[in-house]
Amino acid sequence: MKKLDFYIPTKIIYGKGRIKEFGETLDKKFKNIMIVSGKTSYKKSGAYEKISAQLKDREVILFDKVNENPDFETLLRGAELARNRKAELIIGIGGGSPMDAAKGIALLATNDGNMKDYMRGKEIKKNPLPVVCIPTTSGTGSEVTPYAVFTDSDTKDKGGYANPSIFPVFSIIDPELTYSMPDDVLINTGLDALTHALEAYLSTKATPLNDLISIHAIEIIMGNLKDSLKREKEAMDRLSYASMIAGMAIANAGTLLLHAAGYPLTVYHQIPHGRANAILLPAFIEFMKEKSEVKAKVELLEGIFKEHGGIREFINYFGISTKLSENGISEDEINTFVEKTIVKKNLKITPARISKKDLFKFYKDTF
Ligand SMILES: [Fe+2]
Repeated sequence: MKKLDFYIPTKIIYGKGRIKEFGETLDKKFKNIMIVSGKTSYKKSGAYEKISAQLKDREVILFDKVNENPDFETLLRGAELARNRKAELIIGIGGGSPMDAAKGIALLATNDGNMKDYMRGKEIKKNPLPVVCIPTTSGTGSEVTPYAVFTDSDTKDKGGYANPSIFPVFSIIDPELTYSMPDDVLINTGLDALTHALEAYLSTKATPLNDLISIHAIEIIMGNLKDSLKREKEAMDRLSYASMIAGMAIANAGTLLLHAAGYPLTVYHQIPHGRANAILLPAFIEFMKEKSEVKAKVELLEGIFKEHGGIREFINYFGISTKLSENGISEDEINTFVEKTIVKKNLKITPARISKKDLFKFYKDTF
């Protein structure tokens, strides 16, 4: 056996209705609590009422200014508020964007400078404030990862920050909070979770233990995403569970070329993150089949896809075209996309040699 590492320090509280355990789980020593959320989903999901009722004896600071794909400016504003109001703990509620923003704000509340510097390798001097995550979508997995993804609106760069110090201390994954997700969010986040599990499975950092989690997640997502769209609650509960475990899988094995290649689609064309990954997923599987050192794993995945009618068909079912030309992208943009993608760390843990030429062909083949 090869050596193995596995690390998830986040306490996981999963189950319907378990949001009511939030107040009793939160250590009494925290008096000033900052809530980081988007503008609407926090209230729409019902989380707002359920959580405020449990925070009556504490000071609550609300920062509900997080947009999709949070930028550095938002983090600075949030961190300033956290410092001014002496926040001791940050709660991220919503999808990936508010949860990631909560992590960034927690870091900048105790450390100087801009998130951009830390993403370029600057060391943190002090521990970030503790973070708690409460997802209201089933996709990102941020509730169990040491990652946060941010967008530099000036350079049009989207990228991830990784540091074990931003793992949430605990996360409540209450599937009832996901029931109000609009259809497009349900589809995009569900497909994001699918790609997390797939990429973690193929990663050079994969281990037999992590593979069990990844395959378990893939089977649940492919078997329940269509029924979730029909608002079948049991299927939605399973999806919520699967996206969490897919998060555990990437916490240990990371995301690969597919995530890196999807970022420019989001930055330049505002295509939601999970949808961007889904558009490129069949091409990624083809690429891995041709170029990777893990062909047996790709074949195993293809076996699972076959049981669900094929991966391209599965994605098309949700009204998503897997052709870039049908998603508003022109061939002249390939060079820019290649330049943005080739520098990403995700490529280092993708089990294939990837040159600029390969990457150009990868994009080109999706037209
Ligand atoms: Fe993702």
